[in-house]
Amino acid sequence: MANTNQKKGTDLLYALLAQAREYPDVIVMGRGDPDFDTPPHIVAAAGKAMQQNANDDSPPEGILPLRQAIAERVKQYNHFEVDPETEVVVTNGGQEALFLMVLAAVGVGEELLTPDPNYNTYNDALRFAGGTSVPVSTRPETNFRIDPALMAAAITDKTRAMLLVSPNNPAASVIAPDDVRALVNLAVDRDLLILSDEIYDRFVYDDFVHTSPASIPGGKERTLTLNALSKAFSMTGWRVGWITGPADLMAQVKHLKAATSGPNSIISQHAGLAALTGPQEPVEMMLNAYKARRRMVMDALDAMDISYATPQGGQFIFADISFTGMNSLELAKLILEEEHVLAYPGSAFGPSWENSLRITFLQPEDKLKEGLDRMQRAMTKILGVKG
Ligand SMILES: Cc1ncc(COP(=O)(O)O)c(C=O)c1O
Repeated sequence: MANTNQKKGTDLLYALLAQAREYPDVIVMGRGDPDFDTPPHIVAAAGKAMQQNANDDSPPEGILPLRQAIAERVKQYNHFEVDPETEVVVTNGGQEALFLMVLAAVGVGEELLTPDPNYNTYNDALRFAGGTSVPVSTRPETNFRIDPALMAAAITDKTRAMLLVSPNNPAASVIAPDDVRALVNLAVDRDLLILSDEIYDRFVYDDFVHTSPASIPGGKERTLTLNALSKAFSMTGWRVGWITGPADLMAQVKHLKAATSGPNSIISQHAGLAALTGPQEPVEMMLNAYKARRRMVMDALDAMDISYATPQGGQFIFADISFTGMNSLELAKLILEEEHVLAYPGSAFGPSWENSLRITFLQPEDKLKEGLDRMQRAMTKILGVKG
């Protein structure tokens, strides 16, 4: 069995996943990768690129047609304009985008305001940059709202930027338009950069609305925006993401991209081009599936009397397990060992989240139902809760 006790953050999650894979019948409701096949027209475009363009050269920032398609996408869905020549860099998925964005924006000794809980890899990237994360509390009672006043109170003379991940991973909260406006105004007043991770922007539920900070007056000049095709087109393994932002910062991003991995695979770039310029129905289909699955998880948690903040966007629910009296890693491991279901412990997303479990709905409905049934059985066995 993989040793999970000494590990933290991303390393802990990988160790748990390795342990889970030792059970042939495991149902993974932890990891955040979509379960759908990549739409066939995208696969076909990759096939064609293999035949025709596989050995073509690409500049480190990506081929121009893809950068143009990204600029179009950003205009259509994010409501701001970028120059594909100087304000777009294609990256190896969201993960590389995140790393390059942090490295380009935050220098040694500088601080990044980081709403807590937060996608764990930001802290890893910050360590490489020599910067420090300054957590800004968000709470389930207020649906993990980022309070601009708390953000303002956390600013010091070392603060360089604020991080906004909306929809958020793991909290599944979406920053309301008025709050985005207030946060952008704060960044303008205090001369801060904004790092905006919008990887889940196509998956927003009920009446919640996604708003890009760069679409707010004053925002574009100081915001680096990250996105990727991994979630929207179920293309995790293809590794296509991007950063957009002001030309001076993007020159630094481009320099870092050239120095680390160079250009993305040309085959993936052509697949990405097909995703952005081809039919968008697959995204709608996935959104509808996630809506139904989200409801299933909410109903199952209600049946187990487990409370949670309303998941406003993304592909997971951050559930409150404080009533169990157990810490999140203990409970996640017991559920895994008893019933072979993996949900991620909240502690991997920051020390304040010992009382939470992140449950993803990235399984087909029948498998998700079985996973939820098994989770309920495990809870009954472990705690004797309502079964
Ligand atoms: C908020 C957030 N940003 C970035 C990433 C990285 O995305 P990718 O899979 O494209 O590397 C993830 C992945 O789950 C994520 O949740």
